[in-house]
Amino acid sequence: RMRSYFISMASIFVAAVSLLTCQSNTASRDAIDQRVDELLAKMTLEEKIGQMNQYNGFWDVTGPAPNEEQARKKYDHFKQGLVGSVLNVRGTAHVRKLQELVVKESRLGIPLIFGQDVIHGQETITPIPLAEAASWDLAAIEKSAQVAAAEAAAIGLNWTFAPMIDISRDPRWGRVMEGAGEDPYLGAKVAVARVKGFQGNDLSAPNTIAACAKHFAGYGFSEAGRDYNAVDIGAYTLHNVVLPPFKAAVDADVKTVMNSFNVLNGVPATGNKYLQRDILKDRWKFNGLIVSDWASIFEMIPHGHARDLKQAAELAIHAGNDMDMESYAYVQHLKSLVEEGKVSEEQVNDAVRRILRLKFELGLFDDPYRYCDSVREKSVLMQPDHLTAALDVARKSIVLLKNDRGFLPLNKAQKNIAVIGALAADKNSPLGNWRAGADENSAVSVLEGLQKYTLAIRYAKGADVVVGKPEFIRETAVNETDSSGFREAVALARQSDVVIMVLGEDGFLSGEGRSRTNLNLPGVQERLLKAVHGVNKNIILVLMNGRPLTINWANANIPAIVEAWQLGTRSGDAIAQVLFGDYNPSGKLPMTFPKSVGQIPLYYNHFNTGRPDPTGLVFWSHYIDETNEPLYPFGYGLSYSEFTYSDLKIDTTDRQAINVSCTVTNTGRVAGEEVAQLYIRDRVSSLVRPVKELKGFRKFSLEPGASQNVQFVLTDAELGFYDADGQWLVEPGEFDVMIGTSSVKGLVGRFSR
Ligand code: NOJ
Repeated sequence: RMRSYFISMASIFVAAVSLLTCQSNTASRDAIDQRVDELLAKMTLEEKIGQMNQYNGFWDVTGPAPNEEQARKKYDHFKQGLVGSVLNVRGTAHVRKLQELVVKESRLGIPLIFGQDVIHGQETITPIPLAEAASWDLAAIEKSAQVAAAEAAAIGLNWTFAPMIDISRDPRWGRVMEGAGEDPYLGAKVAVARVKGFQGNDLSAPNTIAACAKHFAGYGFSEAGRDYNAVDIGAYTLHNVVLPPFKAAVDADVKTVMNSFNVLNGVPATGNKYLQRDILKDRWKFNGLIVSDWASIFEMIPHGHARDLKQAAELAIHAGNDMDMESYAYVQHLKSLVEEGKVSEEQVNDAVRRILRLKFELGLFDDPYRYCDSVREKSVLMQPDHLTAALDVARKSIVLLKNDRGFLPLNKAQKNIAVIGALAADKNSPLGNWRAGADENSAVSVLEGLQKYTLAIRYAKGADVVVGKPEFIRETAVNETDSSGFREAVALARQSDVVIMVLGEDGFLSGEGRSRTNLNLPGVQERLLKAVHGVNKNIILVLMNGRPLTINWANANIPAIVEAWQLGTRSGDAIAQVLFGDYNPSGKLPMTFPKSVGQIPLYYNHFNTGRPDPTGLVFWSHYIDETNEPLYPFGYGLSYSEFTYSDLKIDTTDRQAINVSCTVTNTGRVAGEEVAQLYIRDRVSSLVRPVKELKGFRKFSLEPGASQNVQFVLTDAELGFYDADGQWLVEPGEFDVMIGTSSVKGLVGRFSR
């Protein structure tokens, strides 16, 4: 009784605290709104429009670069208070200089917000987001974003253009490395974890920054996986697959949203009123700001939606786009659009309020230089606990794809190991694309990681990877044919007991503008793998890549395969710990690995079709030259332990909260972590539902022999779906339910409600 007394006292205390916090949040929101209105009243129309203008700095570019005249004009605009925000200016000295220019020289001295793509770390680099999603470990993902925020804030930044929460079913699209994969449920959970990690509880704290959910919307469905291409998806897919992570981010109080480059069903997202005003601002009550993507207002001209930049500006503001990133559209044309009565000043005011509110919340009006402390800058970057967090999430992101006869882990006393492949010695590729301020070659390589365990290693490069150059503008340089290193590698493999081959993609072969039509190991790497296999079959293949790959031959012939993505600064340490068994791999794929490019889009939560089953005749939904199955399915990943699922129970007593549970036992010989996944299938509904949908997961660790009861509660929130207009429907009927170790293996039951 004492225990329950304490529990209820504790919950009263928690409720009281959250009521107080809620009240004080409302109070501070009101106070900020008042300050915003006071300031707005002092501003001229030009100054208001200036706040809606975002320029790139004069150094780095992450899009097409401006010409000289534009650069000169920009400088004057800063002084005239015609710029509200800037991107790609970082470092306390640079930030302070530009901030001073604006605060001291412009009439009202309204501070700038400094934004940058801090996608997976600032200087301490954590795994690419697709890899982190493979950890299914929300606490680790949140921590990783916290580290990124602390470092970004320490170098003067206030705003990251992350998380990218575009769902994508197309690994040809290079930007899948930036997202959480193909599933809206996992995607939404990861989105929230990352928003919380970046923003924390107090945006004005010196270690938090504003997040930006992007790209709104549909960008992950670019046709044929070619970046910037048109998107043509049904409204049903939009509402059930694309939008849920954005809704979750908005509910988690994400401060900003970025729209996207693509046309969605005929209308560019940047000029799309249905998306931005109707859904995001009106229906979801989003009160933060919407920033365009780089020049995406301008791009409505080549899209064929606007006749000129002036009309593009008009369309963008009507659609709800508040800030113009590098189109020069608002700063040049909004004033005359207002004067001509085509845009109302109230529309401008609404956008400016959203921008100023964020500046107040960041504390920039109290001290425009609060993020410009050069002492803090030095002490925060690459702090030891940041490096520890980076290692933790890196280990958790690794997925064990194959492990015949317990080939892995390696015995620590293993002698005579060959390490082959250019990526094994590469200290740059593991940093991946979008590496913000990371120093070149600052990752721990696989070789270095392994050498901390044993010196019984010999290395041969064997072959280059195809190199995607880091410069943004230049084309990918290719070394597709040189096999002159094969001889040395094969000779080394012949003399060795075990061969670790590190193959995959260069760190810049994925990311923005890096679409591929092949998903093989680039260049001559597969030939190298086969040549080595010809003399030594004891191969461990470590993959480093920014997207799912088609590695059918390796899967059929190589006994152990480890998916190590691009894991960031501590990459080699994480990989070595997994190979030598100091960390038992626990990652699960957040994206399907196809067998061939021709199967794409291939994803687990597809529809059944009217002809799903083999009939003996040709007339069923299939290919004649490949199976329908993926190489590795969504949710898949092995461990050095075995997890056995038993005792599925479904309790429908409370129809509003159906309990589904089972027991998971570690029947292996070592301790390990498992991700138990719950999937449902709505058997019959007014709008056809997918054959499987993830609706819950739990990650936990178990000692050998130990069991854990896993419980899930299914409510309307899990069992309903959106119609084509985005209205939520919940229909009675029969549901299949599965709890298991991946999307294809588990205990299956059925219930009605
Ligand atoms: C274009 C990218 O699409 C977007 O994600 C990024 O934030 C901006 N460039 C700024 O670098």
